[in-house]
Amino acid sequence: NDFDLVIRNAHCATAADVFDADIGIKDGKIAALGQGLPAGREEIDAAGRWVLPGGIDGHCHLDQPMGDNSVMADDFLSGTRSAACGGTTTVLPFACQFKGQSLRDAVDDYHRRADGKAAIDYAFHLIVSDPTPDVLERELPELIREGYTSFKIYMTYDDLKLADREIIDVLAVARDEGAMVMVHAENIDCIAWLTERLLKAGKTAPRYHAEARPMLVEREATHRAISFAELVDVPILIVHVSGREAIEQIQWAQNNGLRIYGETCPQYLFLTADDLGLDDDHHHHGAKCICSPPPRDKGNQQVVWNGLESGVFQVFSSDHAPFRFDGPSGKKAAGPNASFDRIPNGIPGLETRLPLLFTHGVLSGRLDICQFVALTSTNVAKMYGLYPQKGSIAVGADADLTIWDTGLDRVIRNADLHHEVDYTPYEGIPVSAWPAVTFSRGSVVWRDGEYLGRAGRGEFLRCDLPQPARPKVRGDSR
Ligand code: URP
Ligand code: ZN
Ligand code: ZN
Ligand code: ZN
Repeated sequence: NDFDLVIRNAHCATAADVFDADIGIKDGKIAALGQGLPAGREEIDAAGRWVLPGGIDGHCHLDQPMGDNSVMADDFLSGTRSAACGGTTTVLPFACQFKGQSLRDAVDDYHRRADGKAAIDYAFHLIVSDPTPDVLERELPELIREGYTSFKIYMTYDDLKLADREIIDVLAVARDEGAMVMVHAENIDCIAWLTERLLKAGKTAPRYHAEARPMLVEREATHRAISFAELVDVPILIVHVSGREAIEQIQWAQNNGLRIYGETCPQYLFLTADDLGLDDDHHHHGAKCICSPPPRDKGNQQVVWNGLESGVFQVFSSDHAPFRFDGPSGKKAAGPNASFDRIPNGIPGLETRLPLLFTHGVLSGRLDICQFVALTSTNVAKMYGLYPQKGSIAVGADADLTIWDTGLDRVIRNADLHHEVDYTPYEGIPVSAWPAVTFSRGSVVWRDGEYLGRAGRGEFLRCDLPQPARPKVRGDSR
């Protein structure tokens, strides 16, 4: 008979539609949607529960070598395992070029890291930190044509940041080749100046991380990045947007007809700068929540929610950057009481991204289910050239799917998660939704609390040129 698997009585949602169907799966793809499909070799009854496209995490860091003593706790096995257990079926981590390295070397290195390990499908963004003439004229165009069609650039961090002229040059390559550029927008000189003043005043605790990176630092860099994108006439995505001031810049650009996209992350909905102050016992627990840009305050959380609702943001990502709190390799790599500027930046979030947004976005009534699917899956697939293979429930698409339990009475506990990080910043936050089953190309990788994936089953994905990266056709409205 025809189907390897039939998911019965699925209450499906895509970014556009809600419908009830049986889903027939063959050779890892959705082969039929309909009522009363013939029996499959295997059958699963969704019993009217939500069945959604698997999550796509468009921003996460796995097994990325750091420039210091710190080591990421998650490699491509533990990271993709954790993702699958939280309903994510595709990840886009970074292949990060270090200065002096060729882009090709960086890509080869990360393929070795992922090969035989990933449990779900993955594609790579590049990080361009050294845009030499050879990178701009040869390597980057070649790699884009090979399916590495998005890359991130940094306006901060000494070892990654580009000068303004370099940013303009790489944006021009993106325009010529049709790639999507992700921008980390924070002004490095403002941060350096504030950091120096804080350290001189003896203000070294984790909480001062937020004071060294106030919103104006993000606002200024966001504005500058938008200006460069307008100059070069190329769309860009501003990543990990933390609050009102950066959102206002993006909104201004969008209102003026520029193709400027926005990404935000769970930390800007669920954490505040106060969480960096959990260090009264001198154990510096606040380090657990150090990320850049830093979380802001309750008012800004609300503004970020509004941006998700209104469409200022197209994508919602974890920015999973996994460092252990205890031990010598993670947050304490520079010593247990190192000043805030020497604590590795980033927090884990691959597994909790979808349950947090489903619970506090959809079940609370802030987002409808189609918005949820768009933000966490469909738009991500489109942003990075993976649609319609990924991010949809449609005949011919990969059978990357989640069946959801809702109405749960749970709280997030790190002990229940499947990453290698020894904490979650979301410990104790209630969640009433969690995937009951996650399918990766038709195979069950997570079911009823059990990880059933296999290292190396995940496939590397070459990305198409993303439609959203196309420059706007001019001459009409502007
Ligand atoms: O603090 C953060 N966000 N660390 C991860 C790296 C990045 O800039 O996204
Ligand atoms: Zn960043
Ligand atoms: Zn303590
Ligand atoms: Zn990141």
